[in-house]
Amino acid sequence: MIPTQTLSRFIHSKRRLYPDSTGELSDLLVSISVGMKYISQMVATAGFKGLHGYTGKTNSHGEETRMLDEEADEVLVELLSSSRHFGLLVSEERDSVIETEAANGEGKYVLAFDPLDGSSNIGSNIPTGTIFCILRKKDLSKPASHDDFLQPGSRIVAAGYSVYGAKTSFVYSTGTGVHGFTLDPSLGEFVLTDENIRIPRNGSIYSVNEGNTCYWSERVRAFVDKLKEPTAAGEAPYSGRYVGSLVADFDRTLRKGGIFLYPTDSRRPSGRLRLLYECMPLAFIAEQAGGLAINGPHDVLSLIPGDIHERSAFIAGSEQEVRVYRKLVHGIE
Ligand code: AHG
Ligand code: MN
Ligand code: MN
Repeated sequence: MIPTQTLSRFIHSKRRLYPDSTGELSDLLVSISVGMKYISQMVATAGFKGLHGYTGKTNSHGEETRMLDEEADEVLVELLSSSRHFGLLVSEERDSVIETEAANGEGKYVLAFDPLDGSSNIGSNIPTGTIFCILRKKDLSKPASHDDFLQPGSRIVAAGYSVYGAKTSFVYSTGTGVHGFTLDPSLGEFVLTDENIRIPRNGSIYSVNEGNTCYWSERVRAFVDKLKEPTAAGEAPYSGRYVGSLVADFDRTLRKGGIFLYPTDSRRPSGRLRLLYECMPLAFIAEQAGGLAINGPHDVLSLIPGDIHERSAFIAGSEQEVRVYRKLVHGIE
């Protein structure tokens, strides 16, 4: 049986639900998926092309950038600035907003992305990925500006991520559910493998870097300790799983349920993950799949970034666990 629902066929089939849609968003998603195919290839062959190393530069977060971070960034900037749909781009790897080939005023959207997430894992064959979110410009009659990125996640029109692992997968949502695709290398096409992914209401896995335990607040520590005890009803404790690539830890949480957490701590009072191109897009996916994503007290999608590289705490996953976290740690029902 030939795989009928390729990404572009699926996206265009969804367009029929919105007769007045211009097809622009569909075109964007396909362009982004082409970038992901390129990066998937780069990651798979980096080992023998000497691309595992560092560039010797540090990005705006003071982190040493890997050659693959830079390569993935360049692929996406080149592909997406020429698509003329985006007035401006933001990349984790660039200090400021990126001009595109869209002429003045052209391009209804702006795009923010993490070109290669989990790059500390490069070279050890642990999954990495790309994360993106698309926002509509605040004022379509004006050229895009830095301010168009400083909108709440509730204004996202599309978001998604890829995972470069044993298979290359692509998960996205445009606000009507979450859909998962798998790259068929023989076709060079992303093929639909999971339509309308729903996150289980609760799970049995927690995912956190326990190396930070001594920096957590008492209440965060109490929450994680509780997950590691058998319940009053005699149910087994949760299992711990932590890959250290957000896309891989999040994707497993989305499909199996449970909770991923990267809370603030005494070393990182603003959090470790980036709000605009890590937390917001994955929060959009989590909520579209029936889960929750908070920074502690607030829904991530209600937060407005103060700057394009702002960091945030990120606790996401099954509704039940995230609610228990918010109640225990912040006293909010
Ligand atoms: P990036 O590689 O884009 O900088 O992201 C790394 C992030 C994320 O992938 C992961 O969840 C987190 O860093 C791991 O942080 P720790 O090493 O502090 O656990
Ligand atoms: Mn990242
Ligand atoms: Mn990155």
